[in-house]
Amino acid sequence: MAKRCRVGVVGCGFFAQNHLHSWKSLRDQGVDLVAVCDLSQSLAKTTAQAFSVHGVYKDMAAMIAQEDLDLVDIVTQVNSHKTLVSLALDAGISTIVQKPFGTSLTECEEMLAKANSTAQFLAVHENFRFQHPHLMVADILASGRIGAPTWGRIAFRTGYNIFAGQPYLRDEERFILTDVGVHVLDMARVFFGEVSYVSAELQHRIPDVAGEDTATVMLLHTSGAVSVVECTYASQQTPDPFPVTLVEIEGTKGGLRLGADLRLTVSSNGHAETLNADAPVLDWAERPWHIVQDSVLATCHHIFECWKAGIPASVSAADNIKTYALCDAAYKAAFERVSIKPAH
Ligand SMILES: NC(=O)c1ccc[n+]([C@@H]2O[C@H](COP(=O)([O-])OP(=O)(O)OC[C@H]3O[C@@H](n4cnc5c(N)ncnc54)[C@H](O)[C@@H]3O)[C@@H](O)[C@H]2O)c1
Repeated sequence: MAKRCRVGVVGCGFFAQNHLHSWKSLRDQGVDLVAVCDLSQSLAKTTAQAFSVHGVYKDMAAMIAQEDLDLVDIVTQVNSHKTLVSLALDAGISTIVQKPFGTSLTECEEMLAKANSTAQFLAVHENFRFQHPHLMVADILASGRIGAPTWGRIAFRTGYNIFAGQPYLRDEERFILTDVGVHVLDMARVFFGEVSYVSAELQHRIPDVAGEDTATVMLLHTSGAVSVVECTYASQQTPDPFPVTLVEIEGTKGGLRLGADLRLTVSSNGHAETLNADAPVLDWAERPWHIVQDSVLATCHHIFECWKAGIPASVSAADNIKTYALCDAAYKAAFERVSIKPAH
């Protein structure tokens, strides 16, 4: 019988709830959620009770020392990622860390180097590419139905009050590109391939928010395709598409368009077909979050299957550093008003 995978989750805050439900859902596939850890002892305790987990910790080092873990899933804010990732890798434990990977490209490079030198599995929980409609788009592109993609627009535009659930985002000096831009830039890599040049404009449209709340990024891909990546929390449009990311792609034989209503229209050789791209509503999920919640399960599942097979995840640290480098290049491009070649 295959050995079961013992998982410990670090950070029991806002987004970790989705990870905890996902690991629990993977029980039949061989996952045991055995420990949770949070600096807040009371949060760790209530989380352990809610998810029937026996191991409760406020210090990740103690959790690693006392539990025989196979995988550590780090779901804390970015300023703690490098310390926690390094601790887990040094202890010889396969590690997953939430996006954004690190606080700087240098930090990401250091974590990647540590994973390489310790020969440990390191993945970044990048979930937008695993959203059901985005998986459908990737499948259509792979089928060749619309030909080679030559132009596209990927847009996350909302006025949703993100600060209600994540108040700390108000103080981030690098805000929307680092928070959401990494997801949307990652989708651009998945749909159009790697990037030769990046240019960008950043705007600050919401009062009393430290960083940029709107980003418009233009990418020239090595294939010659051009894509526009947009994200904003300052949109005033009704109805608001939140949390749907709109996608429009033109190819050599046709095109596709994913709308806020999750209808995916695919045209090829002059004929159009509209598909339902809605995600299933999992038993622990609720609309409209279900698209995100389903993608967290899909991401955890994918990473777990790769870990089990002994291969890097598609969202490995080595892959995600390319997305992070795009984000970094977009900031430089906007600050210097030039087109930048990404560093990875
Ligand atoms: N992929 C997505 O769609 C998505 C959405 C929201 C948030 N996130 C990411 O998830 C991460 C967590 O965000 P959040 O909004 O849940 O934050 P949060 O502040 O709500 O939760 C983080 C928790 O980690 C705990 N913590 C911090 N340092 C710790 C340490 N050293 N050891 C143990 N526990 C520690 C805190 O006490 C807190 O309870 C961030 O990186 C964020 O960008 C991703």
